[in-house]
Amino acid sequence: MKYHEVIVVGAGLAGLRAAVETATDLDTAILTQVPPVRSHSGAAQGGVNAPMGNNPAGKDDSVEKHSYDTIKGSDFLADQDSVELMIGEATPCIYEMEHWGCPFSRTPEGKIAQRPFGGAGFPRTCFASDKTGLYMLHTLWERSVALNVKTYEERFVTDIVVENGNVVGVIALNIVTGDFEPYMADTVIFGTGGPGQVYGRSTNALISTGSGAYIAYKRGVPLKDMEFIQFHPTSLFGTNILMTEGARGEGGYLINNLGERFMSKYAPKAMELGPRDIVSRSIQTEINEGRGFEGGYVHLDLRHLGREKILDRLPGIRDIAINFAGVDPIDKPIPIQPGQHYAMGGISTDKNGATNIKGFYAAGECACVSVHGANRLGGNSLLDTVVFGKLSGKHVKEFMKTKKDRRQGEGMIMKTLEEQEKNRENLLIKSGTENHAAIRDEMKQTMIEKVGIFRTGAQMKEALDKILELKKRYESIRVMYKGRKYNMDYLRAYELWGMLELAHVITLGAIKREESRGSHSRTDFPKRDDAKFLRHTMATWTPDGPKIGYSDVNVYKYPPVERKY
Ligand code: FUM
Repeated sequence: MKYHEVIVVGAGLAGLRAAVETATDLDTAILTQVPPVRSHSGAAQGGVNAPMGNNPAGKDDSVEKHSYDTIKGSDFLADQDSVELMIGEATPCIYEMEHWGCPFSRTPEGKIAQRPFGGAGFPRTCFASDKTGLYMLHTLWERSVALNVKTYEERFVTDIVVENGNVVGVIALNIVTGDFEPYMADTVIFGTGGPGQVYGRSTNALISTGSGAYIAYKRGVPLKDMEFIQFHPTSLFGTNILMTEGARGEGGYLINNLGERFMSKYAPKAMELGPRDIVSRSIQTEINEGRGFEGGYVHLDLRHLGREKILDRLPGIRDIAINFAGVDPIDKPIPIQPGQHYAMGGISTDKNGATNIKGFYAAGECACVSVHGANRLGGNSLLDTVVFGKLSGKHVKEFMKTKKDRRQGEGMIMKTLEEQEKNRENLLIKSGTENHAAIRDEMKQTMIEKVGIFRTGAQMKEALDKILELKKRYESIRVMYKGRKYNMDYLRAYELWGMLELAHVITLGAIKREESRGSHSRTDFPKRDDAKFLRHTMATWTPDGPKIGYSDVNVYKYPPVERKY
């Protein structure tokens, strides 16, 4: 059986940053579904926030101002101590990336360039053209190679193994051979990404199914604040590919079918650079009230920026618009609509990424520390990945100094592996009539239509009924391809169950939260209700569905006020 002191699951930015941290002292391996540089972090475009003050308009920026913007952006649901920790680590983490070779764009005097982003008082988003996530990913991947991190590609982790409250390993499906493989580990760090594919109209990659969050949940780690789903204001109409907020940061306009810059009605000061929850709702309102274009979109207009700026700052956006919408933004506006983009909630962790299972950590989008609360600011996600990837790696190094029992749990690992094999056999021999791809489509449609940007209790109850129906129908699915090697039919069917479980958690948490806060906007409860709901939702797994409880928010410095932009 393969053994490593640290196993990191997921090779996106959080996973790689954690591995780079632990690999200086500990034998570290990464298990990943796709080659690391194909991770979903590579789709992040616009940048990563830090209060560096390199842009002349941002010279008065500070850790305190960035922290406050983040807390206000979160609609006061973020834990304030966690936010301050993240922002305090921001500038050192960005310099670290720079020193490791990340090719950030530059100011004329050679500093890391910073552009304005939504909900931010100052231009503080460091960027590498409009492919920031991709460049950061390559930088960390190279670093992990230099540190001899062992990477196992095309491994889909199906479970963690826990014995006496300690993590002792993981089980992974080798996608190529079809074998389930046992891995023994003293510590496991999840950087498995978000659950975006639970929704229709998502900017997320197909691998973003929330499989890590589901494993943690099933093994007894609570999921926190899962009802807070972020809709990015500008995804390309038709395909929902991300059109970066950087486009508005560079000066792009949002225009309705009357030719109006309609954000003046909704965020008169911030305009297109309001926070994402508000800008997405504004666009959706324009569309719903008939001021969108046919089919349901508005325009992102960059023409006034001029050819040179578009080619310099937004070349990726231009390529995508040309190739996927047949529109060159130098000459024509881009058709956009809000798309599901991010989950603020996730695996409940402390500030070190630690969970309630000893030795089991999570970082990045799969985790909820919580620093984003009810609405994340653009540019704070890449920051979250590198800061909490690093901090969880650091804590693992400390934890390992005191850990006496190593290489434990062989029997339990093999038992879990046998269960996985048996489960697969049971799934493959089923001869039901249900098509799992159709169930997946219905789930995605239900979530985007009924647990979307605007929500009501009645619609969400319909969604819940539908999810329960889909769970029932899942019992009668049939996997058509019965082979072992590269059986994506099986893998898609397998992961669908976890997605349905997460859809259940999201929807139930949203029904029970009878208020509007950040991305959770209920037309039947339009006001924020701090007396009842200034609390984190905590969902724990039971065989009968999620049990919803609540925990306190750390509000030690900034009392909640009404958000105005
Ligand atoms: O718009 C963007 O470039 C996305 C950034 C983010 O989600 O932080």
